[in-house]
Amino acid sequence: MTANKERIEQHIDALKQFTATPGQGVTRLTYSKEDLQARNYIKEKMTEYGLAVSEDGFGNIFGKLEGTLSDAPSVIVGSHFDSVPNGGAYDGTAGVVVGLEVAALFQELQLKPTYPLEVIAMVEEEGSRFGGGLMGSRGMMGLLSEEDFYDLADKDGILATDAMSEIGLDYSKEKVRSPETIKAFLELHIEQGPILEEKGIRIGVVEAIVGLNHLEVTVQGRAGHAGTTPMDYRSDALVTAAKLIATFPQIAKETGHGTVITTGRLHVFPNGANVIPDKVVFSVDIRSGKEKQISQARQQVDELLSAHNGVGGITISAEEQLFIEPKELDTELRRLLKEVSDELSIPYCSMSSGAGHDAMVLSDFTACGMLFIPSKDGLSHCPEEWSDAGDLADGTDVLFETIKRLVM
Ligand code: GLV
Ligand code: MN
Ligand code: MN
Repeated sequence: MTANKERIEQHIDALKQFTATPGQGVTRLTYSKEDLQARNYIKEKMTEYGLAVSEDGFGNIFGKLEGTLSDAPSVIVGSHFDSVPNGGAYDGTAGVVVGLEVAALFQELQLKPTYPLEVIAMVEEEGSRFGGGLMGSRGMMGLLSEEDFYDLADKDGILATDAMSEIGLDYSKEKVRSPETIKAFLELHIEQGPILEEKGIRIGVVEAIVGLNHLEVTVQGRAGHAGTTPMDYRSDALVTAAKLIATFPQIAKETGHGTVITTGRLHVFPNGANVIPDKVVFSVDIRSGKEKQISQARQQVDELLSAHNGVGGITISAEEQLFIEPKELDTELRRLLKEVSDELSIPYCSMSSGAGHDAMVLSDFTACGMLFIPSKDGLSHCPEEWSDAGDLADGTDVLFETIKRLVM
C-alpha cells in the first residue's frame, strides 16, 4: 500500500469536528462558521503538501501542483466539503481527504508531473443551505448565472453573497472556469448504499449516475384559529401538502424502473400548534437512471399539483430548482480505473450511483471517473455514516496510480 491510512484517518477525524451539531452528526452548511473552519484546515493541508491554494468566486477551493508543460490542462481530484443537516463525516469529505492524500504522495515521492494536478474541495453539493444542489460545480462550469447566484438566499433570507462576505470570502473573484483548463476529473466517494459491503468488494467503478429533478412546492392556504374555525371553513395548507406528499410513493411505484421520489424538507408557516397553517413549502426530489422515467414522474407530480390547485381556497405553485439528466462517465477512465485496480490486486466491481455527484456536472465538460468505497451498513446522510480508513487508502492507491498515468 502507498497511501498513508493514519494520515487519512487524521484528516477525517479533524474535519468531522467542524460541525454545528456536535454529538449529532456533521452539519456543515455552506459559508457557515463550520465551513470556514473546514476550509482553513483544507487550505492549510494543501499548503503543507506543496500545493498553491486559491478560491473562486463561489468559494470552491483549489490546490495546484504545477506541471512542467506550460498552459497545460489540469487533472483534478476531489469532491465537496459541505454536508446535509446531521449527516456523516464521509459524504464528500472522504473525496477531499483522499485528494489531499494524493497530493501528499506526490510530495513524498517528489514527483514532478507534466500536467498540473489540482485538488478541489467544492461548496454546496448537497443544496442544504441554498437548495438545488451541485452549486459549486455548476457555478464553476458556468451553469449558474451570476444574477441567479446573487439572488440566492437561504431559508432565513440570508443572501449567499452576504454569507460569503461574513466568512471573508470574495464573491467578486473569477467564477467560471474554462473546460479547456481541465484534462480530467476524478472523484472518490463513499457508496452510500449496501452493495460493496454485501459483496465484500472494496472498490466500485462508477459507470453512470442517476438523473435528478428537484422542485420546491409552495402550498398557500389561509391561517385561522385552531379552536374556533369549523372544519368546513378551513383552507389548511398542511392538510393539502400532506395529501400531495402521501401520493408520491404511488407515483414513484407506477413510474417503475427504480424511480424514487422523496420529500425531505418541509417548512410550515406560521408553525404554531394552535394556528391553522397558511403556508407550507416543501421539497420534491425525483430520481431515476432513465431520463424518460424522470419526465414521466415529473408529469404525474405536476398533474397532481394542478388537480389540487384552487380546491378549497388553496393555491399551489412549484419552482424547479434542478434538472440534470442521468450521466454516463468516461469510458476510457472507467477502463483505466479497472486496469489499475487489477494491477494493484484490489478487487472491484462496476456500479451505478443513485446519489448525485459533482462528477455528473463536470462530465459534460471533461472526462470524469468515479470510485466508490464501502459504506458500513449502507448508511449515509446520517450520523452513523462510516467507512474504513483502509478502504479509503485502497481507493487512494487506485486514484494515485490512475492520476500518475494521466499527469506524468
Ligand atoms: C447528494 O448527496 C444527493 O444525491 O442528493
Ligand atoms: Mn450527499
Ligand atoms: Mn456527496
